[in-house]
Amino acid sequence: MAKPNKRDLVRAAAKARQRAVAPYSKFKVGAALLTKSGQIVTGANVESASYGLTCCAERVALFNALTAGKRDFVAMAVVARAPGGPMPCGACRQLLAEYAPHAVVWVADSRALRTIEEYSVRGLLPAAFVEVPEDSD
Ligand code: THU
Repeated sequence: MAKPNKRDLVRAAAKARQRAVAPYSKFKVGAALLTKSGQIVTGANVESASYGLTCCAERVALFNALTAGKRDFVAMAVVARAPGGPMPCGACRQLLAEYAPHAVVWVADSRALRTIEEYSVRGLLPAAFVEVPEDSD
């Protein structure tokens, strides 16, 4: 079967969004990661009554993929009901910079899935902190 394209990945993120657990903000977000070999791993945001424990869709997808043994991510799609699509928060940009540094990020509004904006992880978090330097003091 052909490898998933940009539209397929956005569709997968839109489907994952339906499983968001967002009783507080009501803002549902879905994310889908594409591996080099063409596999798709998804996630959606999960909120907590202790608001700060909330985890964004992007990180749920990333943790899901990493703990399933996936690496070599080439793209992530993120979908929410937001004009132009949802932009990943700083925390998610950090994790993406560490584990998907070469990926492109496609974002779309859930009401207009064919309008897709493209960013790169590198562009979203320039000069990222990606490894802890050795410190022998
Ligand atoms: N959220 C995401 O899942 N991804 C984003 O890119 C932006 C924000 C979630 C976190 C929280 O559940 C809700 O959206 C409102 O901030």
